[in-house]
Amino acid sequence: MAYETILIEQRGAVTLVTLNRPQALNALNGQVLSELLDAMAAFDKDASQGCAVITGSEKAFAAGADIKEMHAQGFADMYGHDFFAGWDAFTRTRKPVIAAVAGYALGGGCELAMMCDFILAADSAKFGQPEIKLAVSPGMGGSQRLTRAVGKAKAMEMCLTGRMIDAAEAEHAGLVARIVPAADLVEDAVKTAATIASMAPLAVLANKEMVNAAYETTLAQGVQFERRLFHALFGTADQKEGMAAFVEKRPGNWSGK
Ligand code: HXC
Repeated sequence: MAYETILIEQRGAVTLVTLNRPQALNALNGQVLSELLDAMAAFDKDASQGCAVITGSEKAFAAGADIKEMHAQGFADMYGHDFFAGWDAFTRTRKPVIAAVAGYALGGGCELAMMCDFILAADSAKFGQPEIKLAVSPGMGGSQRLTRAVGKAKAMEMCLTGRMIDAAEAEHAGLVARIVPAADLVEDAVKTAATIASMAPLAVLANKEMVNAAYETTLAQGVQFERRLFHALFGTADQKEGMAAFVEKRPGNWSGK
């Protein structure tokens, strides 16, 4: 599939995806969704790739779902086609995905960043759920993921007023993993992704799966799920290699088995 709204670059074991609709501040329309889903499926299947980074431009990660695409739609279009349900497939990407956010991450842009496994924010980043100003609401999971990330008080204030928060507030609230100078954002994110891609692949999948389980389970179920996956990793060749490499004071050489 040839892409028009995203750019793909492989940097070693890292797939760098750049949202590329500068004229619309990377607003997310149906074409972006289908190209991104295609790219993520290819990334997941490609054994040479271990981690992905999604980024935008200096001005905008993404300024939201495409308002011009949505504005004429009615209830029957939205409900009948389960509009935005396609984005759920993005969250089923099995390998890790980092959002590298500079500039605006608003509405669907903030929601896409939150669908990634963690967010690295440039000091220029601004996050918000301004849909209320359009007389609608988050529709790609924002009311749920933001609330889980920053707690009810801040999520409620942001959704009800549309107020944007800057990178420092986002980091303080737990929405982003780290703040990076804007000029270093992509390099830092790719380096972080390369570190992840250098780990044993099955352990990477298991760690992602168990952290995500914390969102879906009770504490006891989550701890049980973690322990079972931990036990399962002792059935891998890479666990033998990883522990032998530690004892022999050398780097691990992973087989992915
Ligand atoms: C379509 C958009 C867009 C969007 C910006 N553009 N955001 N097009 N959908 N979400 C377009 C503008 O129309 C304009 O195109 C061009 O990008 C540049 O934007 P400007 O507004 O001229 O830039 P600036 O003055 O710098 O302001 C930046 C901004 C503003 C503060 C980010 O663009 C803005 O408020 N955008 C909308 C943010 C928003 O409401 N997002 C939530 C969307 S709803 P032209 O052709 O005029 O030059 C959403 C919903 C999820 O995500 C679920 C709801 C159902």
